[in-house]
Amino acid sequence: GLDVSKLLATTGKVGLDVGFVNTASCESSITYIDGDQGILRYRGYPIEQLAEKSSFLETSWLLIYGELPTKAQLEEFQNSITRHTLLHEEMRRFFEAFPREAHPMAVLSSGVSAISTFYQDSLDPFDEEHVELSTIRLMAKLPTIASYAYKKSVGQPFLYPDNTLGYVENFLRMTFGVPAEQFEIDPVMSKVLDMLFILHADHEQNCSTSTVRLVGSAQANLFASISAGVNALFGPLHGGANQAVLEMLEDIHQNHGGDVTDFVKKVKNKEDGVKLMGFGHRVYKNYDPRAAIVKTAVRDVLERMNKPDPLLDIAMKLEEIALSDDYFTERKLYPNVDFYTGLIYKAMGFPTPMFTVLFALGRLPGWIAQWREMINDPKGKIGRPRQVYTGAPARDFPSK
Ligand code: ACO
Repeated sequence: GLDVSKLLATTGKVGLDVGFVNTASCESSITYIDGDQGILRYRGYPIEQLAEKSSFLETSWLLIYGELPTKAQLEEFQNSITRHTLLHEEMRRFFEAFPREAHPMAVLSSGVSAISTFYQDSLDPFDEEHVELSTIRLMAKLPTIASYAYKKSVGQPFLYPDNTLGYVENFLRMTFGVPAEQFEIDPVMSKVLDMLFILHADHEQNCSTSTVRLVGSAQANLFASISAGVNALFGPLHGGANQAVLEMLEDIHQNHGGDVTDFVKKVKNKEDGVKLMGFGHRVYKNYDPRAAIVKTAVRDVLERMNKPDPLLDIAMKLEEIALSDDYFTERKLYPNVDFYTGLIYKAMGFPTPMFTVLFALGRLPGWIAQWREMINDPKGKIGRPRQVYTGAPARDFPSK
């Protein structure tokens, strides 16, 4: 019951908490994490059960509206999203202007900002009807922007959405399909990607979600806030870690003959600031429950897709060595969700720069749910951290 910020305000003091290690920025009823026990729940439902029994759109509804949808509500949600998957035709000109080597995360955040310019009705965050419409538009159009970013990078023509397909199937077809050719959707691939989206769908006040909330706390609209969230996710210490993990595994494979001991030594000696990417978490001081689910899935997926990968053996060896080494156990460093996902994305045919885009597609409903919770919080106010000033004391500007 102690309100520390009020207490500090009355004493005229400011608390310093670099990286917000011990400071809660809000009250939230969306996601529960117990980092010591490795527990993650969305609206009370354990992540393991959602991954096994739910679908991404059902979980999205749960996060955004607070309860599981009825059959009719889910159908209506799916239909509305399907009706909004097209991008405004003028958006093509944005994609034409980006260089082919553009990172798709940069294209994704620009794309989210850019589409908002077509929807003047999205500007008022307190207009419930328009917030609803912005929610549907973002859920519907983010996969289209993501697949166009991919198509641009490989020099292939864009494919319009196919509204007869499900959410993930449609994204896979727009990404990997080619015009005039039949695209066979691999059911294993779409099921696994749907499950991975569920695992990424929310994670309470992480860096990108806090960004979405902070930008939104200035009453910036949903598109502006989500675009900022995509940019925060881009960073290699956050969502960008899934790309960094694969690059690390490839480096060990190609330049060290698969020998992980040298690499682990380098990490422990903190040489050149090198870290074991995909390891460690601010909140989990135990195995990340999402990583446990992905780890179980990865070998199965590679086998079923008939795509064995020497990088998986390297990853398993890295984990085994790390988990039996004092450096890692003392610091409670365990694999996080990013450690194994890249291997699945690679087997599916996604190039490494697309990995973080997939994370963003999964995280979208969480960002939306958190933004909406914040906007509707009667206690909400603009986010405005204080600082502890360490600069020069007052001094006179020299006379000339
Ligand atoms: N490899 C090696 N050492 C590590 C790692 C790592 N991956 N992560 C933390 N450490 C060490 C730190 O060097 C530090 O050691 P010290 O006490 O000797 O100085 C100690 O563990 C504590 O680490 P902090 O940096 O204080 O932990 P923090 O909570 O600030 O950082 C983070 C968490 C950013 C996730 C960190 O563990 C990291 O950089 N991991 C690699 C990147 C990564 O996988 N990010 C994805 C996070 S999950 C997500 O966004 C989905």
